[in-house]
Amino acid sequence: MQRSYCGLIDLKSVEENLVIKGWVNTRRDHGGVIFIDLRDHTGLVQVVFNPEEREIFEAAQAIRSEYVLEVCGIVKKRLDGTDNPEMSTGKIEIVAKDLTILNTSKTTPFKVNDEATNEDLRLQYRYIDLRSTYMQDNLRFRSKLFSTIRNHLSDMEFNEIETPILTKPTPEGARDYIVPSRVHKGSFFALPQSPQLFKQMLMMSGLDKYYQIAKCFRDEDLRADRQPEFTQLDIECSFYNEEDIMHLSESLMQKIFTELIDKDVTLKFPKISYKESMERYGCDKPDLRNPLHLVDISDYLVNTDFKVFKDCVNNSNKRIVALNIPDGSKLTRKNIDDYTDLVKTFGAKGLAYFKVEDSNNTDTGISSPIKKFLSSKEIDAIIKSVQPSSGDLIFFSADTADIVNSSMSALISKVGSDLSLLKSGFEFAWIIDYPMFEYEKGTTNLTSLHHPFTSPVSNDQDFNDQTLSRAYDLTLNGNEIGGGSVRIHEKSEQLKVFHALKLTDSEIESKFGFFLKSLEYGCPPHAGIAFGLDRIVMLLRGLSSIRDTIAFPKTQSSSCLLTEAPTEIDLEQLKELAIKTNKPKT
Ligand code: AMO
Ligand code: AMP
Repeated sequence: MQRSYCGLIDLKSVEENLVIKGWVNTRRDHGGVIFIDLRDHTGLVQVVFNPEEREIFEAAQAIRSEYVLEVCGIVKKRLDGTDNPEMSTGKIEIVAKDLTILNTSKTTPFKVNDEATNEDLRLQYRYIDLRSTYMQDNLRFRSKLFSTIRNHLSDMEFNEIETPILTKPTPEGARDYIVPSRVHKGSFFALPQSPQLFKQMLMMSGLDKYYQIAKCFRDEDLRADRQPEFTQLDIECSFYNEEDIMHLSESLMQKIFTELIDKDVTLKFPKISYKESMERYGCDKPDLRNPLHLVDISDYLVNTDFKVFKDCVNNSNKRIVALNIPDGSKLTRKNIDDYTDLVKTFGAKGLAYFKVEDSNNTDTGISSPIKKFLSSKEIDAIIKSVQPSSGDLIFFSADTADIVNSSMSALISKVGSDLSLLKSGFEFAWIIDYPMFEYEKGTTNLTSLHHPFTSPVSNDQDFNDQTLSRAYDLTLNGNEIGGGSVRIHEKSEQLKVFHALKLTDSEIESKFGFFLKSLEYGCPPHAGIAFGLDRIVMLLRGLSSIRDTIAFPKTQSSSCLLTEAPTEIDLEQLKELAIKTNKPKT
């Protein structure tokens, strides 16, 4: 007898005998006839048990939700008026001729496909949660993404090579997950934050086109788009420069978009320098669907008497920006107060604004609580540079560049979505010309903006926070989906970077001695990139949580509710590892 999937049976199969297997979604007893909706990943089909088939009818009475069944039956067209337009199989039903209960189920803690289920409960019983259409579709999409990537890269003669999980720390800016060694007591492995150093050493080995779908581990504060254990598509190529990697990435994105969501993407993606991105959007992952952007107005306020602005001119660490909101005059007092509260969460002290009633009349056409503090020359200059239309509203922010940038980029995305200003679709951008280093907050210590293996644009001068790197990030709709760089391939240059980071010779030797040595034996120039695959699934499927792209994710507090990991371990095991714990009292 032919085996069929539940959700795929239609009128074409009427009068055929079929075998179906799946889970009981619902069971209804209708005056002597039992109806069961049987579910597999393709959908539901209605199975009817008539009392004439006495033996199986009686067996069917024992069936409950989530029992696993094998049903043999004949496909029948439903009687007129009993169609269910909600179901893809709503025009037919299976009249059961044979039934095997393959397994029973306890009453589940929530109903499969109930969207109101609390997430902790979903994670605790993840194997039931994954039966939902939503999670099935997400994971099957993820699987298809992986196979599309593998096929595409293998067609381009890339080699998929695994790198170790038990390794030494690779600096990517987060804390390491540490694994104790039993054999070498008191010594520890680190789980890789990325395969960075191994993929570079593969270039030295002549494996010129490498990729890996790699698990990475980072102990950092979690957000909606971060997991402590996540998956990268990691790529490295010998003799490639930034243009080559960008071209490769664009063609990969085009392949992914056409195969997975049947959408073409325009090649090539726009390039925006880090400096321009920060000036215009306040961040290095602008959402180019959003038309809102910042305009620097400090130059027009050099002689202002308005204290809020006066404090921020002639100071390179501070900025004054304007943000024009088309048709923003319709915002209410309450809206403006809410936006002021939003910027204050980033440390801003206020959010001044102009309501532009008539853009041609900067005298009577503007109403604003700060108008009285500004000269008409200053108001004219602001209006000339921002160029609002009548009916717009201009927000102002004046503070340290950090506060202006973080608060105003959050405001741009909030107002953009509140006023439905975003274009539909997908907008990519390359962010380039990153600084190599930034100063650690409140110190004169430099830290790497990417990682310390990124090549500087020029090696001629001493390094400082103005030195540019050959790094690039790929953003999609305001999310960083990938990042990479052209690498340093000469030992002297690598040492210069380590010294700029104030690493001592003994630190350099103990952390990176093996790597520096490898640079001495004929390392080719090389470049690479890594994409966050969980994030790509999230964006392509329009999901709001990265957890919904992963079969068994961690919670916001980095634990697994299903297995209850992490857990304490036996004293015996600790002894074997020569480890004593010093658990803080809670
Ligand atoms: P980077 O640290 O930028 O680069 O990581 C590459 C991409 O991985 C994704 N990503 C994450 N996704 C989910 N949860 C996280 N905690 C997380 N952290 C990062 C992002 C990011 O763009 N070795 C370099 C790559 C290289 O230079 O080739 C690296 O790891 O989408
Ligand atoms: P104040 O003089 O503090 O009452 O502020 C006058 C106006 O300027 C109010 O609308 C405040 O919201 C706004 N404001 C105060 N500080 C800032 C700032 N740093 N940036 C932008 N607007 C501000």
